[in-house]
Amino acid sequence: MKPAVLVTKRIYPEAIEYLEQHTNLDYANSDDGLDAGELATRIRGKQGVVSQLTDKFDAATLAKLEGIRVISNVAVGFDNIDVPAATKAGILVTNTPDVLTDTTADLAWALMLASARRLVEGQKFLESGQWTKWRIDLLVGQDIHHRTLGIFGMGRIGQAVARRAHGFSMRVLYHDARRAPAEVERELGLEFVPPEQLLRESDFITLHVPLMAETRHLIGAMELRMMKPTAILVNTSRGPVVDEEALAEALAQRTIAAAGLDVFEKEPQVHPLLLKLENAVLVPHIGSATIDTRRKMSVLAAENVVAAVEGRRPPNLLNPEVWKG
Ligand code: DGY
Repeated sequence: MKPAVLVTKRIYPEAIEYLEQHTNLDYANSDDGLDAGELATRIRGKQGVVSQLTDKFDAATLAKLEGIRVISNVAVGFDNIDVPAATKAGILVTNTPDVLTDTTADLAWALMLASARRLVEGQKFLESGQWTKWRIDLLVGQDIHHRTLGIFGMGRIGQAVARRAHGFSMRVLYHDARRAPAEVERELGLEFVPPEQLLRESDFITLHVPLMAETRHLIGAMELRMMKPTAILVNTSRGPVVDEEALAEALAQRTIAAAGLDVFEKEPQVHPLLLKLENAVLVPHIGSATIDTRRKMSVLAAENVVAAVEGRRPPNLLNPEVWKG
């Protein structure tokens, strides 16, 4: 008999085809996701789950799961799953790294460019019919080339962002709990600096850290005060890495110049003040949202879950200590 797998929310059809070949599939084919009650009912009797970042697997939920061998998240981030609690419960957890690295780095750059060159303001200006004449200081913004880029988090996505900075002749500072290997620093021309120096010297600050206790509100009122008044903050990591209230205030008071945000503290809610500000470029958590990448993420998550339920080590295992195969 094929192992039973639940997919909690709609994913790309290629992944579903693969799952149908290899598993006895229960597919919640909708964008709504399952509420806690529905999840508890449908997960019963399953060996694997393909989840998304909107599915919360906290310690209490995990403790109630019976017979689940693996939770395969369709995301590189996994803050929706209490991995230590899953480990304790003997459940494998997997994610979808690598396939989305360049796509997410591209969006960080899109937000940097859009914020610095006021692209959204420009479009609104045109749409509202206000463009009646060319003006020497119409929608003047900030240069990006030859400026200083500060990156918090020098993992895969941080490195991909840094690589792109070469094309803009930028100085690149970074901070990470773990310093990058010397050859990576050399190749990417990186300067490892303390957080305070990064905040004070950078013209652009971009966040590429995972969400965990140590990174919650990494950027708060104090950090925002350290930034240049011309600084631009970009967040494509996780919303709670930034104190959204403090950021909205800083943008409203113009103590920093602008922000480009893909992620928010209480998605899909956005702080009401942010929605009113011209110097905030806001997009709805689309960092990895290209057709190719979302397809690859879906397929990778399917491969991870199938490997685990068939007794093979899944390629993107986050808690190898559970693996006894
Ligand atoms: C991730 O992969 O963690 C993104 O935030 C969702 O694509």
